[in-house]
Amino acid sequence: MHRAGLIVWDVLNGLREAVRPGVTTLELEKLAERLTTEHGARSAFKGYRGYPCVLCASVNQEIVHGIPSATRRVKEGDVISLDFGVELEGYFGDAAVTVPVGKISPEVEKLLRVTRESLDLAIEKVRPGNRLSDVSSAVQTWVEQNGFSVVREFVGHGIGTKMHEEPNVPNYGEPGHGPRLEEGMVFAIEPMVNAGAPDVKVLGDRWTATTVDGSYSAHFEHTVAVTANGPWILTRPREVTGASW
Ligand code: CO
Repeated sequence: MHRAGLIVWDVLNGLREAVRPGVTTLELEKLAERLTTEHGARSAFKGYRGYPCVLCASVNQEIVHGIPSATRRVKEGDVISLDFGVELEGYFGDAAVTVPVGKISPEVEKLLRVTRESLDLAIEKVRPGNRLSDVSSAVQTWVEQNGFSVVREFVGHGIGTKMHEEPNVPNYGEPGHGPRLEEGMVFAIEPMVNAGAPDVKVLGDRWTATTVDGSYSAHFEHTVAVTANGPWILTRPREVTGASW
């Protein structure tokens, strides 16, 4: 799973570097496709429940599952959430990062920072003996303390030899509930945070999820294993330490 995760990390970093004013989300899709092939991996997303692409690219008020398009061109001040996953030799990796396009407003900068920090705090809970809802609660508490809201309709998940395994990992809940975490369990933890209200609608393409109030949304994700020594972020190199993204 770490080998799959390292490919996900590599592709997301390649995409991050390609984000600039004027790039289309389809150009990012093409880059993700090429990098996936170069790594000898298979996309975890393309064909999943009929999803047509290897990448989800969600701009501004789009929360998740934005379908790359030749007509979707980002501009200075936008933010773009890049969600990407692969299968390598039967094992899955899944991660996401929200990237600023050029200079963004201080409020949107705070949205990105708080969402990333909520992922960091959740990852910190991935330890043997903790309960699953300790992870969920860490996200919700930090997000709401900072005046933002947590999306309820989409959740993180177990991951391993399938992209989506039990259990669901919501980004909300009271601590101290759910299964006890044990060494060897692996979760995709993925806070989706709206600057305004938590409400979600899905567009006519049946995939793109956006905020109802038009407020911007951010999404950060890592695949994380429970080990005796604490959390192991599988979707980045071991030598990278500190903040999750
Ligand atoms: Co996921």
